[in-house]
This record gives sequence, C-alpha cells and structure tokens, in this order.
Amino acid sequence: METDFWHERWKNGQIGFHQDETNEYLLKHWEKLDLKQGSFIFVPMAGKSKDILWLKEQGFQVIAIELSEQAVKAFFEENKLSFTTEQKNDFIIYRSDNIEFYCGNYFDLTKDVMANVKAVFDRASLIAMPPAMRKLYKLKINEILPDSAKILLVTMEYPQQQMDGPPFSVLENEVNELFCDKYEIALLEEFDVLAENPRFIDKGLTKMLEKVYVMQLKASISKE
Ligand SMILES: C[S@@+](CC[C@H](N)C(=O)[O-])C[C@H]1O[C@@H](n2cnc3c(N)ncnc32)[C@H](O)[C@@H]1O
Repeated sequence: METDFWHERWKNGQIGFHQDETNEYLLKHWEKLDLKQGSFIFVPMAGKSKDILWLKEQGFQVIAIELSEQAVKAFFEENKLSFTTEQKNDFIIYRSDNIEFYCGNYFDLTKDVMANVKAVFDRASLIAMPPAMRKLYKLKINEILPDSAKILLVTMEYPQQQMDGPPFSVLENEVNELFCDKYEIALLEEFDVLAENPRFIDKGLTKMLEKVYVMQLKASISKE
C-alpha cells in the first residue's frame, strides 16, 4: 500500500483495525516468549495500539513505528502520557517513559535503532501489506532485527478472491516461506473470527481465521 492510502485512512477515521483493548493473543501467549523484564520490544506498523501500553506496563521497553503522526499523537493523548519529541533523520521520535515511538516509514528504519530488540509483536502489520510488500517487509526484518529476537505474529486467512485487502490473507505456507530461512515457526493457535467481525461478513467473506505464530532463531543457525 502506498503511504497516502494509510494517511487517508487515518484522516477519514477508517480505522476498523484498531482495538480498544489489548490484543487477546498478546495477553495469552506473550509469556511463552520468556523475556526478561526491561527487554526491548519492537511493535511495527503500530497504529495507536493499546498493545504498546500493555507491554510498557509489563515492564518492557517499547520501540514502535507508525507512519501516521495523527495516530502517534492520538496514542499519547488518549492514554494521557506526556511525551517529548526529537527530529532524527527521517523520523520524529516521540518519547515517554519506556516508549520510543518512531513516526515515519518502517522501510527507513536502520539497524542501530533495533540493536537491543529481543522480540517483535506483529499484529496487523504483515497482513496490512500486499504480497510483494510482504517480501520487502521480511527482507527489512532480516536487515534490522537482531538474529536472536523472537517474533509473535498474528495473521488472517480468508478466501482472498472474496475481498481486496487490507487486511490481506496470509496463508500458513507463505508464513513458512517468508520466515523459514532463519526461524523455527510454531503455530500456537487458530481461531475462527468471522462471527465476531460483521464488517467482513458484509463484505462477502464466508470464512476468516486468525492464526498466531511464535518464531525464534533456528538452533542450527544460533550454533554457527
Ligand atoms: C492495519 S493497521 C494496524 C495497526 C496496529 N498494529 C494495530 O494492531 O492496531 C496498519 C498500520 O500500519 C501503518 N503503516 C502502513 N505502512 C507503514 C509503513 N511503511 N511504515 C510505518 N507504518 C505503516 C498504517 O498507518 C496503519 O496504522
């Protein structure tokens, strides 16, 4: 998707993807990543997600990125968090206690920003992108994310011919193809979410699954 697409979505309040509560898969599965308090966590394409706040409240240091300044500002205002800002390279960095929120383009991020990241929470990031862009998203992960970082990924699967994305359907095969170069991938859970998403029933979907994966560096690579 072009950046204008997302700026328009935010400007027009078309943010059906936003959840007013912390993501339930994050709550349910985060412990499985077995991370030390104080670890740095990366939240890509973050919107104004409550997940950032929850991660901070669990004692983690969150690095988030979001294209829309409207979303970043809304995050701090709606959660009543004070912040400072700094313009650095292509980004405006909004800082609050244990949160560094980069306003700018994910594809402009550099390795130094991510040097200490121990885990990624991707909800509605990979699936926000069309197929070619998903490949670039993963290439960028390879470029900037430390090898040892774990990833908790939430995807959606539905018959792609029934609806144009975003959100896009990202099948298990594709997750494996994208990430099997480095990661051991475990499917933690799949859940039929169509009944609780009338807006997708209205768009003609007959099936919609959410799948949750945890990924970590393959043992064969970590021994190298
Ligand atoms: C589907 S929303 C998901 C937001 C959030 N993860 C959540 O769960 O609510 C995708 C978000 O990614 C942002 N986005 C899209 N492309 C981006 C890019 N290249 N860099 C940074 N953010 C981007 C959009 O503005 C949008 O807020």
